[in-house]
Amino acid sequence: MSNNDWGYIANRAKELVREAAKLIKDSLKDERTIEYKSNPNDLVTEMDRKIEAFFNEEINKEFQEHLILGEEGTGQDLETLNGIVWIIDPIDGTTNFVHQQRHFAISVGIYEEAVGKIGIIYDVMADELFTAVKGEGAFLNNTKLPKLNEANLKEALIAINSGWIVEDTRMLSLVKECRGTRSYGSAAIEIASVAANRTDAYISLNLSPWDFAAGAIIIEELGGRITTVEGEQINLLKAGTICVAKPGLYEQLQELIFKKG
Ligand code: IPD
Ligand code: CA
Ligand code: CA
Repeated sequence: MSNNDWGYIANRAKELVREAAKLIKDSLKDERTIEYKSNPNDLVTEMDRKIEAFFNEEINKEFQEHLILGEEGTGQDLETLNGIVWIIDPIDGTTNFVHQQRHFAISVGIYEEAVGKIGIIYDVMADELFTAVKGEGAFLNNTKLPKLNEANLKEALIAINSGWIVEDTRMLSLVKECRGTRSYGSAAIEIASVAANRTDAYISLNLSPWDFAAGAIIIEELGGRITTVEGEQINLLKAGTICVAKPGLYEQLQELIFKKG
């Protein structure tokens, strides 16, 4: 296999995601060890760490020259996206995992020289596997997803966490003008929901690269937009704001809400 046989890498990545999901499912009956990270709302379980360690071990075995950027820090401390980098969130939606045992996802984005090549988001309990290989379209399980149609604010369902509405008054006008809001508690699932045409946009004022690395590849493959809320290119090496939207709606969000404030 050559270093960048993307079909092969995508298949292996999907297999690893499914194996990781089985480990998570098998653990659901066990008692969980929960720790706080930065604050009591920032949870981590031993499964978050175990799953990331699983990816780390398997990737190192098979793709020795690939690098890993993972939420739980088992990969490398990267300052650039040179080479091939797997950006991994072993469990996105840990609070849901702990409280609800559902609505959490495994998120894997694979980049080459900072260009997104493969995006995988697996909603474990719903058994929904979202995948994209750059230039080959995006899929939900075995069904090809259609390109995203234009959407407009008045008819839009927008995923946003209520905390951001309280914190940033620019969000008030957005909430008033759109058709409705939703909050699923997993950034990866929220981005996948736009990809699957279930919502029209997703806004967060603080996400880390592993929350959106896979979603960005899937959304862009479908003609959707993903930038910071301020309209800048996403940065895969640091945390920031994120605006994901269907075409048309993206420009409205930028013009009507974010730029005018
Ligand atoms: C979190 C989830 C959540 C988002 C947070 C993320 P985690 O990821 O995606 O929906 O609002 O900003 O940190 O900690 O469950 O992997
Ligand atoms: Ca996350
Ligand atoms: Ca996580």
